[in-house]
Amino acid sequence: MKKERMGVGMGLNLLLLVAMVAANILSLYHLSSLRNHSPPSTTPHTDPVPDHLLHQLHTIRATISHLTRIRSATSSSGASSSLPPPPPELLLYSRIAPIASSCSDHPDLLHLYMNYTPFSPCPRDSLSVAEPLLLRGCHPLPRRRCFSPTPPKPLLPSSLPSHPFPSSLPDAAVLWPPTSPCRSFSCLPSHLGFDLKSTESSRFLSARSALDLPLHQLLAIANAAGAAPIRLGLDIAGGTGTLAARLKLTLNATLLTTTMNLGAPYSEAAALRGVVPLHAPLQQRLPVHDGAMDLVRTGHAVNRWIPVPALEFLMFDADRVLKPGGLLWVDHFFCKAADLDTVYGPLIARLGYKRIKWAVGNKTDSGGTKYGEVYLTALLQKPIGPPPLAANIVSGIGKA
Ligand SMILES: *[C@@H]1O[C@H](CO)[C@@H](O)[C@H](O)[C@H]1NC(C)=O
Ligand SMILES: *[C@@H]1O[C@H](CO)[C@@H](O)[C@H](O)[C@H]1NC(C)=O
Repeated sequence: MKKERMGVGMGLNLLLLVAMVAANILSLYHLSSLRNHSPPSTTPHTDPVPDHLLHQLHTIRATISHLTRIRSATSSSGASSSLPPPPPELLLYSRIAPIASSCSDHPDLLHLYMNYTPFSPCPRDSLSVAEPLLLRGCHPLPRRRCFSPTPPKPLLPSSLPSHPFPSSLPDAAVLWPPTSPCRSFSCLPSHLGFDLKSTESSRFLSARSALDLPLHQLLAIANAAGAAPIRLGLDIAGGTGTLAARLKLTLNATLLTTTMNLGAPYSEAAALRGVVPLHAPLQQRLPVHDGAMDLVRTGHAVNRWIPVPALEFLMFDADRVLKPGGLLWVDHFFCKAADLDTVYGPLIARLGYKRIKWAVGNKTDSGGTKYGEVYLTALLQKPIGPPPLAANIVSGIGKA
């Protein structure tokens, strides 16, 4: 009897979840416009939401409230022990995840984003709408029925770089935003990762401090630790794809680079170099199957500005995609010195990885000295065998 009750409770939860997801998707597409009582004046004409969709949505909404009523009724009538509350992980996730709050919290942007004319060119608003949505954790809904803008002239094969560290990239490969002050690769500041011939071509080759991990060291460690060969990897927030380019040249390895186009055409640059740019925000589940990667690196954009719960999700997703014995390279992570021992060190320790390298150094730029920040560069190895018991791990989040 008890077992049956529990089955019913779990089934109910599952049904609720499915209904909520369905309603979310539908409402994201169709109701964000309704929620905005005063549509922006740039909208010349808003089609009414089709009746059948509204009907579907109302049915789903009614189902949800019905299920919720059943659930609260049964849980308040003495059956509470057999009907578990929503799993805390689901509640935590729904605060961060794309499907729930991160998209619906920004109905104005969503409305702008989905306000396009089907079967015609998509609006050229990636910098003003799509990237801001991505940055807020809402992976934009696909615009499924418009044509994504492309540069006007085809790129001649001869203008493609023959090497991933060329002296220049063809400007014609990018549809530069008309409002952008910079409409050529040569005008981008060199520290952004577009100076391929000099700055980028020397990266990862030598160490200026203990915070650097040059490739010859990485490879020696990988060999000694049984993590070689490095064939597949993921560079999270990898800019223009320099690590992927370097490992392709030295190891024939294939690295995916997650990158955004915040203020500069990082994705286009990586693609021109012949490495794959994954256009994904840091909140997103990595689109790679479990245990597929030999190496995961997190770049400079992974730092204390990421909310701790989202960072913990990111680290555990890195763990998910790493194979047993794979290497996690936390490269120049920065945080306030005091937080390293109390927040971020314990967060990383929860993975139960072996510390191969753990170097901490003062961040000496103006922001770093102002906030007393330190850099951490760590190389960690995923254990082979069963993970540690949850009872031995004290989570820093989810309690609050
Ligand atoms: C990479 O693969 C190519 C083609 O198989 C081969 O010729 C080349 O020697 C390899 N390079 C390295 C560094 O392994
Ligand atoms: C790092 O910064 C701290 C606090 O600002 C200071 O006490 C310490 O001496 C610095 N360490 C180095 C190696 O410069």
